[in-house]
Amino acid sequence: MSPDYEGGQHPLAFIIDSFRISDEKINSIIADFKDELDSCIRTGNKRMLKCLPSFVESLPKGTEAGEFVVIDLGGTNLRVGLCTLQGCHQFEQQHDTFEVPDAIKSGSGHKLFDFIAEKVLAFVSNLPLKPYDVGFTFSFPVEQNGLSHGKLIQFNKAYDCHDIVGHDVVQLLQERFDKLLPGRLTIRSLVNDTVGTFVAHGYINPSTRMGVILGTGTNAAYFDTLNGTRMIINIEWGGFGDSVSVDKNSLPLTPVDVEIDAESENKGRQTFEKMVSGMYLGEQFRRCALDFLTLGYETPYSLDTKYLTDIELVLKNGLAAGTVQMLNQLALTILERSAKLAAALITAVYQRARDSSPFVAAIDGSLYTKNPTYKEMISKAVQQYTQSDELVIEASKGEPLVGSGIVIAAAK
Ligand code: BGC
Repeated sequence: MSPDYEGGQHPLAFIIDSFRISDEKINSIIADFKDELDSCIRTGNKRMLKCLPSFVESLPKGTEAGEFVVIDLGGTNLRVGLCTLQGCHQFEQQHDTFEVPDAIKSGSGHKLFDFIAEKVLAFVSNLPLKPYDVGFTFSFPVEQNGLSHGKLIQFNKAYDCHDIVGHDVVQLLQERFDKLLPGRLTIRSLVNDTVGTFVAHGYINPSTRMGVILGTGTNAAYFDTLNGTRMIINIEWGGFGDSVSVDKNSLPLTPVDVEIDAESENKGRQTFEKMVSGMYLGEQFRRCALDFLTLGYETPYSLDTKYLTDIELVLKNGLAAGTVQMLNQLALTILERSAKLAAALITAVYQRARDSSPFVAAIDGSLYTKNPTYKEMISKAVQQYTQSDELVIEASKGEPLVGSGIVIAAAK
């Protein structure tokens, strides 16, 4: 039987404590992020952030109209749909969702694009036989030199198709369309999912000033001046905290964060994303929880076989009393750390860019949309850090893929 810690300090409470962030720390993260963003925008310093141009040079008006085939390659799924912009802050859209198989995510990039083209062609085969303008939402950093051109900088999350890094992702897809369905599909826009979220929500609510994704990965886009032009900028904030050692980092990295990074495909990159986004929170919990579950059973043969017939008994009697409660606390603390860090960066962007009241930040992504507790944590933290009601957090009402259609209509 493992020892009883009820009433006393659990010997692993320090693990949970290592995931807590003080208000003082949050203030220094906000200040450091603002400095980093400023130097990225003004001097092109890309050691952490990328601040990529989107070539979307105006905020959506809500009057843009048209019908577009829209595609969204995200961290987990591929979506292919048709969106109809009605021109009065309203749109209709329908899409099919396909899970991207693991083998495709880490194989040749050409196979990935074959997969996308195949799903698009299947979708289009059910549409009237006419040409369509296509919007492409792509959830990875791309160096764009126009609205519909851009070279892939790197893959993140669970993708690792390195043979197409440096390639123009629009060209890769357009070539396949031209070969398989000549004259039907022309890609007119390439947008990051944060830009798509910004524009789609802005179409409905004109006070939108920021698009945020909290899903498999995390990132944000906002409106600012880049190289002398006002436009939506894809910050690529997942890289915040990169290129700095653990002891000098403004992010409070725990040993578990360091382990997760060391074993990841993109070691040394996306430090903030690995602390905050959905792909990593479960893994943070799993690694910490193992310590809790084995506590008291480190010695071989210390777990009595009788417990195996009833797993609830193992939990009730076999584990140190209070451990289940501690695991609950651990889970909430991991979620709360993520929410606080995301809220800190949203606050920093708002403090830099506020030009209107309200300043609406539209959030999309499964970590946020599917988790009411997490939603509350973000709103509470933002309210605390800004001490104002001016920054308003809203769950995005438009899917990022609709945004790729809106920017085509706006550019016409
Ligand atoms: C990518 C971003 C993307 C974010 C959310 C990150 O891994 O680098 O481009 O916006 O995930 O999907």
